[in-house]
Amino acid sequence: MNNVLYDQAVEILERNDLGHYTVPTHGLYPFQWNWDSALSALGQYYINESRAWTEIETLFEHQWEDGMVPHIIFHKEDDGYFPGPEVWATNRKVPSSGITQPPVTGFAIRRLYDRAHDKDMAQRRAKALLPKIAAWHNWFFANRDPDGTGLVAIIHPWESGRDNSIDWDDAFSRVPTEGVGEFTRRDTMHADPAHRPTKEQYQRYIWLVQHFRSLSWDNSLLHDASPFRVVDPGFNAILLRSCADLAALAEELGDDVLATEQRRLAEKGLAAMETLWSDKHQQYLCFDRAAEALIDSPSIGGLLPVFARIEQSRADAIAARIDDLGRRVKYLIPSHDPDVEGYDGARYWRGPSWLIVNYMISDGLLRDGHKDTADRIIADSMKLIHIGGFAEYFDPMNGAPCGGPHFTWTAAMVIEFLKLTGEVA
Ligand code: GLC
Repeated sequence: MNNVLYDQAVEILERNDLGHYTVPTHGLYPFQWNWDSALSALGQYYINESRAWTEIETLFEHQWEDGMVPHIIFHKEDDGYFPGPEVWATNRKVPSSGITQPPVTGFAIRRLYDRAHDKDMAQRRAKALLPKIAAWHNWFFANRDPDGTGLVAIIHPWESGRDNSIDWDDAFSRVPTEGVGEFTRRDTMHADPAHRPTKEQYQRYIWLVQHFRSLSWDNSLLHDASPFRVVDPGFNAILLRSCADLAALAEELGDDVLATEQRRLAEKGLAAMETLWSDKHQQYLCFDRAAEALIDSPSIGGLLPVFARIEQSRADAIAARIDDLGRRVKYLIPSHDPDVEGYDGARYWRGPSWLIVNYMISDGLLRDGHKDTADRIIADSMKLIHIGGFAEYFDPMNGAPCGGPHFTWTAAMVIEFLKLTGEVA
């Protein structure tokens, strides 16, 4: 049975592969997405080692001169997606969006490197990527942490990767909708509208895009000019894990300067992460930088820090939190606490379980000695696939598949889990 699942996952990766990049799924997401590519490369490695490196290299071919790596690369035209290149108007030769996404490539290339059969190739390709990824990390701290706190802010909910999370509701309600004009969404043509963000949320998403566009996408201005500035512990954990992994890789490849620089960023950020800890919730919370207050919303964003190397006592508390969630849902890990107002088990990031998050959290838990919790997460992930196939995300109560089908990063994570548990050799 598991060999069948493995073959199906490979088939999905192949059908979504356009040669030098992969689409998350045809129809709903017809371009290259940033963190989808980084995580999908882990699965591609088992099919074709060289192709996995290409996935990440393609992304970095479209890095901006200031170091930013966009969240979408519009490699070729497709009018099935909104907002398309004409809305972003970032004025690039190959059009891209103007915002970024969770920087998980540092983690991904270290993993590709460590597993490599072809060490010479891995060394050559990792060496070429190192300075580019470091430039992206440094871009974050220069542009998204102007006061040098050690943690960076996102300026658009889409940057978090958790587009419509309850975490953003209050901060997002300060984003105006006036003057946005009429537009036609495309996502609701490919997926059930009840699974997707609402119309009003979409108007605010577009207001921010238009606002940044009016500032010519000048990253030195955007942070302070955005009414939406949120420090997401999950996003920062991914960045800090990537800084630490890049440092380790740089050290192995003999680049001590880069290693020291990236290690320092990781250490400073991890110390600052403590300011986001909530005793009440026994997990981390987002911080609304514009309102200068913690956001009282217990989500997966506050559990993801276990992916980075936080204090052991914090990792223990997060494992206990997940065990507790596991008594209240059937399939871990719900993107929001199901007993909190606003939870919706079928709506995108307001409740559903996502395999990529399960993967990153279980990776941290295994490192920190919480094998039982990690095993439950992995077992639940595989049950979800057995029930609903390779969907974008799943209802944590009944396992119903939601969002788009034949999802690339879901398939990549299935391959990872099957390999990790030794169920497929
Ligand atoms: C949605 C998700 C985001 C993902 C993208 C492509 O926008 O919220 O995290 O990168 O789809 O799969």
